[in-house]
Amino acid sequence: MPQSQQNRRPAAQAVPLHRKVTVLGSTGSVGTNTLDLLASDTQKFRISALTGGRNALLLAEQARKFRPGFVALADESEYRTLKDSLAGTGIACGAGDQAVLEAAAMEADVTVAAISGFAGLKPALTAIEQGNILALANKESLVCAGAYMTVAAQKSGCDILPVDSEHNAIFQVLDNRSPESVKRLILTASGGPFLRKSRAEIADVTPAEAVAHPNWSMGAKISVDSATMMNKALEVIEAHYLFGLQQERIDVLMHPQSIVHSMVEYIDGSILAQLGASDMRTPIAYALAWPERMPTTGDFLDLTKPQNLEFLPPDELRFPALALVREVLKAGGAMPTVFNSANEVAVAAFLDGAIGFTAIESLVAAAVEDAATRLPAPENLEDIFAVDQEIRALTSERIARMPKTRL
Ligand SMILES: NC(=O)c1ccc[n+]([C@@H]2O[C@H](COP(=O)([O-])OP(=O)(O)OC[C@H]3O[C@@H](n4cnc5c(N)ncnc54)[C@H](OP(=O)(O)O)[C@@H]3O)[C@@H](O)[C@H]2O)c1
Repeated sequence: MPQSQQNRRPAAQAVPLHRKVTVLGSTGSVGTNTLDLLASDTQKFRISALTGGRNALLLAEQARKFRPGFVALADESEYRTLKDSLAGTGIACGAGDQAVLEAAAMEADVTVAAISGFAGLKPALTAIEQGNILALANKESLVCAGAYMTVAAQKSGCDILPVDSEHNAIFQVLDNRSPESVKRLILTASGGPFLRKSRAEIADVTPAEAVAHPNWSMGAKISVDSATMMNKALEVIEAHYLFGLQQERIDVLMHPQSIVHSMVEYIDGSILAQLGASDMRTPIAYALAWPERMPTTGDFLDLTKPQNLEFLPPDELRFPALALVREVLKAGGAMPTVFNSANEVAVAAFLDGAIGFTAIESLVAAAVEDAATRLPAPENLEDIFAVDQEIRALTSERIARMPKTRL
C-alpha cells in the first residue's frame, strides 16, 4: 500500500492540533465547502493562503473574512480588481500561474487541492514538495501524473488524503489493512442525470441538463463528467494510484442514491462500506481533521427514513467511458493523460455549446485510439505536459472540423 495509505503518522511527524490550511481553488464548489468547515472552528484552523482562477471578487471576500497571509488569482487580467478589493487590508496578493504556485508553497499543515482539471497538477506537486498533508480533490492531477505524485509524496513525507467521496470512503474503510487482504475495491456511481435515458435520448441534451446532478451540487466540469461517467472512469485511475491496486481489482457499481460512497471487499467475503449524506463536507472534514475527526456543518443521513438502496451492474455500452478506461490503464504510459486532456477540451466545448453531449465520448475515444499507436510513454513530467498540450491541440482541431451543433 502506498505511503499515503498509512493511516497513522509517526509521532515525530504528528499533525499539530492547530492547523494552518491552504485552499487551492477556494472559489469553487469544493473550495467554498472547505471554507465553510474552516469557519466552523477558527481556534483549530488558520488560513495560510487562498487561490482562485478568475473570480477576483469572491476571492477578495474570502480573504477579508479569513485573513490569509497570501491570496493568488490565476487570471492576471483580474489582478487589479483583486488588488483594489483588498486595499487597506494588508493582505498580500498576486496573479498568474506563478502566484498560484507561490501560494501552494506557503507553509501549511494541510493543503486542499481543489483546482479543477490539469491546471491543478503543478500546484498540487508544489504542495506535495512541502512534505505535509495534501487533501486531494483534484483527481485530474493524479490521473495524469499519478506515478510522479506518489513518488514525490514518498520523498517529501507528504500524506495524500483523498477528498473525492468514493476514495475518501475507501480510505476510511481500509484503515491500514494490508493490500493482500483486499479482494477488490468497489467504487459506487450514481449514474448522473441521464442514468435511465437511452443513448438516443441523450443525443440532444443541453449543458444545463447535463450539469443538473440529481444528488450532488458540484462544479460544471465534474457534473458533466458524472453525466458521461467519465468521472467514474477517471476515478478508477485515481483509485489505482491512491491504493496501489491493478484495474482488475477496482470495480464500479451503479448506486443511484449516492448513500454508500464506496466499499472494500475483503478476501474472507466481508464487504465494508462508508455511508453518509451526499455532502462533500463529510469527506473534506475527514481530510482536514485526519487522523482525528471534526464535527461537520453538513447534512446527516437519517436512517429512519426509507432509503431503498439499489445496486446495479454498470452498462458499458450505455457508458463507453467505463470500458475505455480499462484499455487506458492496461496501456499505461501516456494514455491516462491523453484520456484526461481530450475529455477536458471536449467538456469545455460542450459547455460552450460548440459540440453535442455524445461528441465528448467520441472525441475522447478518437484521441485514445490515435495516441495508442503513436505516443511513447512519458519519461518525465515535462513529457506529460507535452502530451497534454498535444492532445489539447489535436482535440481542438477535431472540434473545429465537426459540424456545428444546434445548442
Ligand atoms: N465539486 C465536488 O463536489 C467534487 C467532488 C469530488 C471531486 N471534485 C474534484 O475537485 C476539483 C474541483 O472541483 P469543483 O467542483 O470544486 O470545481 P469548480 O467549482 O469549477 O472550482 C474550480 C476551482 O479551480 C479554480 N480554477 C479554475 N481554473 C483554474 C486555473 N487555470 N488555475 C487556477 N485555478 C483555477 C476555480 O477558480 P474560479 O472559480 O475563481 O475561476 C475554482 O476555484 C475537480 O478536480 C473535481 O473533479 C469535486
